[in-house]
Amino acid sequence: MLDTFNEQIMCFPPDHSFSFSFGRWLDTTLGVELIIRPDRQSASQLVARIVANELRINPRLVLGLATGGTMESVYALLVKEHRESKLDFSQCQTFNLDEYVGLAASDKNSYHQFMYEHLFSHVNIDLRNTHLPSGLSPDLEGECQRYEGMILEAGGIDLQLLGIGKAGHIGFNEPLSALRSRTRVKALAPTTIKQNAPLFDDPAKMPRRAITMGVGTILEARRCLLLATGAAKADIIAQAVEGPITSMVTASALQLHPRCTVIVDEDASRKLKEKEYYRWIFENEPEWESYR
Ligand code: F6R
Repeated sequence: MLDTFNEQIMCFPPDHSFSFSFGRWLDTTLGVELIIRPDRQSASQLVARIVANELRINPRLVLGLATGGTMESVYALLVKEHRESKLDFSQCQTFNLDEYVGLAASDKNSYHQFMYEHLFSHVNIDLRNTHLPSGLSPDLEGECQRYEGMILEAGGIDLQLLGIGKAGHIGFNEPLSALRSRTRVKALAPTTIKQNAPLFDDPAKMPRRAITMGVGTILEARRCLLLATGAAKADIIAQAVEGPITSMVTASALQLHPRCTVIVDEDASRKLKEKEYYRWIFENEPEWESYR
């Protein structure tokens, strides 16, 4: 714990993982922490509680959002928290990870609609503070630059929610995405098309490209929070967390992040080698005391 009277010079913004205090380097980097919860509901609850706590500590939180089936229960819990415990979204700003190229915001398969349906329409968020890239922009490259600029203008992302695709993507950073990549248009990988096409009335109409925050953009968030549930994610979670850092599994780049919490249910934890160690951390480290 830093002595608050010490003069601290923060270095390497925005991660703030190192501070200089009276001539000593103090490394506050946590790296990846993995937490296993018994089932999908309790894993989602933990994610929602972390988001709610961060929002209560800082009502002007800049929140990075993800879409997809895994996030639906998290948003339902945040809506519940807003209704029952007055969780206040009125001052926060949000930036979503991605949007399909070619879909209007009003399209029922767009991520704009997903967010409106699952979160924005149920809480007291100012819609002008919610941001997703426009998949219909006539100048997609300009749109990507504009999006990066808006994140910068907001002061960077404080807390980034993430899911993981079956091929290991975060956002739509498909295999071989550069680990320093920024927001850009990305061609979707066959695994992603197979995963998401059934959500479209006509699966053949699923767009083949998306605008996505880059791996580098995601790594600049001050804190990352990844949720993975279900046996279908067990292999890829083990690769991402315990395997080598590789652009073939872009979630593995989170190993470079100063503060990334990965929350999984028992099913998604099946292939992890160090499960007992991860369990010990959650049961014993003071950081998790209020969440146990
Ligand atoms: C969506 C996104 C994707 C999903 C991932 C998991 O905004 O960024 O990376 O989080 O594909 O999707 P589900 O939860 O549907 O398995």
